[in-house]
Amino acid sequence: MLKEAYAEQIAKIFAKYPDKRSAIMPLLYLAQEHYGYVSPEGINEVAELCEVDPTQVKSIAGFYTMYRETPKGKYWLQVCTDLPCALVGAEQFYHDLLEYLGIQEGGTTPDGLFTVEHVMCLAACDRAPMLQCNFRYVENLDMEKMKALIEQWRAEAKAEMPASGD
Ligand code: FES
Repeated sequence: MLKEAYAEQIAKIFAKYPDKRSAIMPLLYLAQEHYGYVSPEGINEVAELCEVDPTQVKSIAGFYTMYRETPKGKYWLQVCTDLPCALVGAEQFYHDLLEYLGIQEGGTTPDGLFTVEHVMCLAACDRAPMLQCNFRYVENLDMEKMKALIEQWRAEAKAEMPASGD
């Protein structure tokens, strides 16, 4: 439950707004972080917290592209393949990345760690090839740097996993 997992953050978010309804969008980010996407449970919990109808929350989540409506990998990689980036190899980089991870466009690796999609201009054309990972920019990439990052993220994800107890 968001209420328990993020009690302090929720209180801070509400403190910023005179009206609970204004906190819907930041709370949707928390729900997305917690569930990996804006799940039906997340929508209901945000609605309850903001004292609005779940359909209002759902319509906001559906309108903005930064909210994930379906589950994605822990690392959601959005590669810009728009023309200025494509001119310096972003298309090839995107396909090499898919091949390296062994997935199709928009697919997620079987371990649930990586989802790869291509997107239009992210306004970092002079630093291509580039992508955003969970909305953070990673720029001036090549496959060598990308492989190192993937290994780093794999190691971080492994370190976050609870011990198996055996
Ligand atoms: S075209 Fe890729 S960031 Fe602008």
